[in-house]
Amino acid sequence: MNAPHSASAPTPARTVRKAVVPAAGLGTRFLPATKATPKEMLPVVDKPAIQYVVEEAAAAGLDDVLMVTGRHKRAIEDHFDNAFELEQALAAKGDSVRLDAVRDPARLADIHHIRQRDPLGLGHAVLCARNHVGDQPFAVLLGDDLIDPRETLLSRMLDVRDRHEGSVVALMEVDPSQIHLYGCAAVEPTGEDGVVRVTGLVEKPSPENAPSNYAVIGRYVLEPGVFDVLERTPPGRGGEIQLTDALQELAGRGTVHGVVFRGRRYDTGDKADYLRTVVRLACERPDLGPEFVAWLKEFVAGLTEAERSGRERFAA
Ligand code: G1P
Repeated sequence: MNAPHSASAPTPARTVRKAVVPAAGLGTRFLPATKATPKEMLPVVDKPAIQYVVEEAAAAGLDDVLMVTGRHKRAIEDHFDNAFELEQALAAKGDSVRLDAVRDPARLADIHHIRQRDPLGLGHAVLCARNHVGDQPFAVLLGDDLIDPRETLLSRMLDVRDRHEGSVVALMEVDPSQIHLYGCAAVEPTGEDGVVRVTGLVEKPSPENAPSNYAVIGRYVLEPGVFDVLERTPPGRGGEIQLTDALQELAGRGTVHGVVFRGRRYDTGDKADYLRTVVRLACERPDLGPEFVAWLKEFVAGLTEAERSGRERFAA
């Protein structure tokens, strides 16, 4: 988990090189922590959530990352920049481990920033990337969804894009009661395991109106034609320009595929899931895990014991 992905085995050259990371949201679910700190900078163990996302892009061979930020997001820029004084101080102490940790974020990819000046929705944030992306397919990674670093979802999506052209979305089967939290896809089989054709998309439908229980999770590989569609996509759900609505038009043209993901995904945009993510990833860290797991077991045993004696007291 600690090693930067850029240090892992080289990935084959891709036709898709650019990733767009929308990071302009206000993070209201995490107030007051996000009053002066971008939600993307909240630590997951000891790295900000957004670093995992950039590492994922780099691991899939994407070497150009555009962050679409907003006001009060300068900490994201600083995180992916050099930190001269800090680096000098660590170098002077000979602390090469921390020095690498400080330098790694800026080495992951060629990182750019642009501001979404008006909060008009995810579709609008993606549209802000138009000039930077140009006429090439590109990936979009949403920061609230962390995909476990051991998974290869994005690479699979890029392979599907190489074979089928068009656009590719990541899909995950969810309990029907949860579908109202996601974009939802109507799908048809392709005959290929784990790959479906997307015939329609709807943003956050009620369970009665959902065409399936396939939820769009925050990974997309998009054809550049999506920009023209986004230009004329009217505000949709929540009064925002929805990426899902633009993809619905592309799905109508038969150019959208879905890659079904059954692996480990963490929703760090939700408080309880954020806590679960930190605990899980901490347990798996070789440097922290053994001690932390031992403490956690004791802690849970204590809870169980307190519950049991509470029940007994109540029954007495
Ligand atoms: C966004 C998208 C939604 C998608 C979700 C994945 O919603 O609009 O289609 O399913 O991300 O996390 P948000 O969670 O930003 O409201």
